[in-house]
Amino acid sequence: KTDLLLPVLKGQPVIPVILVNDVAHAVPLARALAAGGLPAIEITLRTPAALDAIRAVANEVPEAIVGAGTILNARQYEEASAAGSRFIVSPGATPQLLKAASTGKVPLLPGAITPAEIMALREEGYTMLKFFPAEQAGGASFLKSLSSPFAGIQFCPTGGIGAGNAKTYLDLPNVVCVGGSWVAPENLVQAGNWDEITRLAAEAAKLAKV
Ligand code: 3PG
Repeated sequence: KTDLLLPVLKGQPVIPVILVNDVAHAVPLARALAAGGLPAIEITLRTPAALDAIRAVANEVPEAIVGAGTILNARQYEEASAAGSRFIVSPGATPQLLKAASTGKVPLLPGAITPAEIMALREEGYTMLKFFPAEQAGGASFLKSLSSPFAGIQFCPTGGIGAGNAKTYLDLPNVVCVGGSWVAPENLVQAGNWDEITRLAAEAAKLAKV
């Protein structure tokens, strides 16, 4: 299913990572991000509103490509799929989650940091991995060191990435895109300041790989 994942991750340099507290915010937020050039968004399952938010965006925002994040187990994979997620992101991987993803229809972006974790996922056929928490785990220099031994593996780093350091990651040979919450900050979402979110998205959309 990497075939389904690649166009999403290659399609934009930054995937917004979103925490939705109020389901009413989901649709205007997805529209604002898409208007700024970031149609693919990851709604994290960290709030009770997340699944309803995914459903609302999938049904009401045709220009968006809605994904689910912070998927920790097989049950959440199934729930996120049923809600209409087009891609599913996990900070790590477990045998049960990988089993659900191998029989499910929605592509999974599982997380790995260490060489052993990367090797285990590579054996399962995964060549696109999340790298989280990027800054805290060793940052761009750590990630760069993985490019030579794991030449075929591409990463989407997230965690502590913002407008100031995104380019450092995007310029690495083994980075396909980055993820982050900085394009949809909580205060702007609460205030319904969709224009400013569109502006932040447009700035982020301008970042590109070299
Ligand atoms: C994620 O789940 O990818 C991260 O929580 C995003 O990290 P950030 O909030 O530091 O951008």
